[in-house]
Amino acid sequence: MKSAALLVSLISSIAFVAAVPAQLVERNMFRGDAQAAAYFLTNQPTGNNIVVAALTSDGHVSYKHAMSTRGLGAHVTGSTAADPLMSQGAIQASVSGQILAAVNAGSSTVSLFSINPSDPTVIQQIGEPVSSEGEFPVAVTINKKGDQVCVLNAGQVNGVHCYTVDKTLGLIRQADTLRYLNVVRDPGPMTSAAHHIAFNDANDKLIVTVVGTPNYLAIWDVASNGTLSDNFTTVSPPSGGMNPFSLTPIPGKNAMVSADTAVGADVWDLSVLSAQSNQTAAGKSASVSIGGQMANCWSAYSQKTGNFYFIDAGASIVTEVNVDQNLKGTVVKQYPQGTGSTTLDAAVATVGNTDFLYVLAANKTSIDVVSLDGPGNGKNVGSYDFSAMVKAMGIPVNATWVQGMTTFSSA
Ligand SMILES: *[C@@H]1O[C@H](CO)[C@@H](O)[C@H](O)[C@H]1NC(C)=O
Ligand SMILES: *[C@@H]1O[C@H](CO)[C@@H](O)[C@H](O)[C@H]1NC(C)=O
Ligand SMILES: *[C@@H]1O[C@H](CO)[C@@H](O)[C@H](O)[C@H]1NC(C)=O
Ligand SMILES: *[C@@H]1O[C@H](CO)[C@@H](O)[C@H](O)[C@H]1NC(C)=O
Ligand SMILES: *[C@@H]1O[C@H](CO)[C@@H](O)[C@H](O)[C@H]1NC(C)=O
Repeated sequence: MKSAALLVSLISSIAFVAAVPAQLVERNMFRGDAQAAAYFLTNQPTGNNIVVAALTSDGHVSYKHAMSTRGLGAHVTGSTAADPLMSQGAIQASVSGQILAAVNAGSSTVSLFSINPSDPTVIQQIGEPVSSEGEFPVAVTINKKGDQVCVLNAGQVNGVHCYTVDKTLGLIRQADTLRYLNVVRDPGPMTSAAHHIAFNDANDKLIVTVVGTPNYLAIWDVASNGTLSDNFTTVSPPSGGMNPFSLTPIPGKNAMVSADTAVGADVWDLSVLSAQSNQTAAGKSASVSIGGQMANCWSAYSQKTGNFYFIDAGASIVTEVNVDQNLKGTVVKQYPQGTGSTTLDAAVATVGNTDFLYVLAANKTSIDVVSLDGPGNGKNVGSYDFSAMVKAMGIPVNATWVQGMTTFSSA
């Protein structure tokens, strides 16, 4: 009797000892593997695929699978260099909408996926890819509510178009949102007439960086029902700026930042826009000179540090910039990613309690990870090569074709 009771108590204590760590391990693995994901495009002309990676709270990137967009990738005509779409925003996730939208530049379509919030590496295509209503779509943006997707066409037929999101049918064309830029670019259909599309923080402006001499912003008013003004106003860069490329909204302000390949970065004060067209950036707008500037094209914002991160493809450097309440930009710190990495698109995700910056290092066929441990306190924590994973899946990938970076975090 005594020994039986001892045995029972022994067994239950063994079971207890064994069960608790197993549960903890399982929960940690679940949290680690499925709490957040990163996505980018192979953008291959024979078939575009989304590469999906799980993000763990120690900064690791673990490649899970790739999924066809059922569209085709493309490359700007006449170039064989990396950055094939010359864009930011080729793929974009929305936490509020639990969706993922991606451009197919070679078939002039947009693909939509649902994201499973309890494991964002699980995505499922919704409906068929839809026409971008133009040529050579290079970027998409999603509104804050996650129920409207707008695409930027940068080919010979260039401009913007928006869709509402139907969770079963996919992207539904939205009336009064097809707006042409009418930028004349030559030669070839795959031109680079524009680089990025984004809403301002209030979602009452839709903004595009347009290629010109110099590049300029095209800005539409967005009505509360999501329709766009007939006409757009244009704004040329602040002094020193020349080639604004990306667009990242400044939270709480009617203002944006752009990476600019002439100077490093531009800050745009949109609170001073007038009714006239062909304006010059005014108010508190100013350019920000970034040291070692070669090709700063991409930008991202971290809520945890409150700072912006600019990515230079030529110098392969990430630069952290603070923008204060008066919209004054100051370089905080730089994070070299290794000469020749060709760092392109980047996105921030909160994993665990930390913000990480995920950078598509095209020439390394890798994602570089910078842990953003506080303002001015980033650390390079790893570089994760995806070439073995895509080869194992039998999917073609090429360093000069990959594009885009976006993240989804359930945190
Ligand atoms: C990658 O793409 C470039 C540009 O189109 C091409 O020149 C090169 O041969 C490709 N490399 C491979 C391994 O397919
Ligand atoms: C959307 O709102 C605008 C501006 O208020 C209005 O002119 C337009 O008719 C509305 N369109 C639809 C489809 O409701
Ligand atoms: C749009 O621009 C055209 C041509 O400049 C002008 O005639 C028209 O009145 C403008 N429409 C609006 C709504 O401002
Ligand atoms: C305004 O700028 C656009 C784009 O650069 C140009 O095509 C147009 O001629 C300009 N209009 C005026 C009135 O200067
Ligand atoms: C790409 O990386 C290789 C080394 O792996 C290097 O030789 C080459 O110069 C790099 N290309 C660019 C454009 O930096």
